[in-house]
Amino acid sequence: MLTGKKIIIGITASIAAYKIPFVIRLLKKAGAEVQIIMTPSARDFVTPLTLSTLTERPVLIDFFDKVDGSWSSHIELGIWADLLLVAPVSANTLAKMATGVADNLLLTTVLSARCPVLFAPAMDLDMYKHPTTKGSVDKLLSFGYKQIKPVEGELASGLMGCGRMEEPENIVSVIEELFNKPLAFSGKRVMITAGPTYEAIDPVRFIGNHSSGKMGYEIAKAIVNQGAEVVLVSGPTSIDINEDGILVNKVTSAAEMHEKCMTIFPETDITIMAAAVADFTPVKVNMSKIKKATGFSSIEVKPTVDILADLGKIKRVNQILVGFALESDNEHQNALKKLNNKNLDVIVLNSLKDEGAGFGFDTNKVTILTKNGDELIYGLKSKYEVAQDIVSVINKISNS
Ligand code: CTP
Repeated sequence: MLTGKKIIIGITASIAAYKIPFVIRLLKKAGAEVQIIMTPSARDFVTPLTLSTLTERPVLIDFFDKVDGSWSSHIELGIWADLLLVAPVSANTLAKMATGVADNLLLTTVLSARCPVLFAPAMDLDMYKHPTTKGSVDKLLSFGYKQIKPVEGELASGLMGCGRMEEPENIVSVIEELFNKPLAFSGKRVMITAGPTYEAIDPVRFIGNHSSGKMGYEIAKAIVNQGAEVVLVSGPTSIDINEDGILVNKVTSAAEMHEKCMTIFPETDITIMAAAVADFTPVKVNMSKIKKATGFSSIEVKPTVDILADLGKIKRVNQILVGFALESDNEHQNALKKLNNKNLDVIVLNSLKDEGAGFGFDTNKVTILTKNGDELIYGLKSKYEVAQDIVSVINKISNS
């Protein structure tokens, strides 16, 4: 049942809009309140009269009502909704949602939404397969939005292929599942580390690495979407995250990250060390800037403390510890060594030999090894999808 749930359906210009009256009937029958927002050109595909009659609410299309001059606040709508379903979503609106374009009431509402967002594409098969559309879908998934994938069948163009919007009954089942399914990580406290660490040489220079922090941040989003409470311990990155359920602790050096992690760790159920912690730090930090004229020919370094290994030493039986391994040679063997030596439950292996994977890319290719002997090899995917794979392995382990 969806009793009292407030659902916005955003309709865009697509033949599949004819299915929305059926979706509304099913949602209303299940007890939901439904508000329709249409893009201006969606009016050509299904009439506002039909939609307002079925929803028992005025259909919103423009920012201002042309008759009485009243304003539809996308911010209020975004806060009001328990769920925003954009269906059918055209390739055009999909691309706009992915890039933050806000040139109609529906798009501004999507940007203002605090609730889960679902989108159900409907378009011709070649449009859906196009790399631009695929890129838009990946971007939306990386925001934590969920796709109700189009299905195979006859399309409005007469062609056969993947692009038909899902049937109303199935769309409503996805919505019911979303509201009624207990989330896998509800009540779990998770610590995630992300980004590089900077090891100071003097007040302006440091030893660092190319980690963007993206992988760790995407894992944080993926697991918070499964109900976890996340503490993110992040080295210096340019990523700004402002999401309910994610508390960010910024650190700079390996020593600071170590201190923060050791404090937080005892209170956590799961820890995922995605940070690219510097392995070496200067023995001596100059308090003032080293002048060019003074110069220096070498920097004496010492190893940093291995945070993951220290966490492995104090890990309780019911805690799950996940590490990463970035390898260039003997990848599998080295990753297994780290899994055992650092007392881990799972290790995520990145090979420097894989194109499009690792530092600075939006994509990644990983192999996940578990202490139970499982080896899961994945293809090149967006970092959010990789994060979802990691989260699903952790879920399996915590239920085994
Ligand atoms: N790690 C850590 N503290 C360090 C170095 C690494 O906690 N000082 C963690 C990383 O966050 C990662 C895992 O250890 O989860 C493996 O990191 P990696 O750089 O692949 O390996 P190292 O253990 O540093 O060994 P090596 O550089 O020799 O491969």
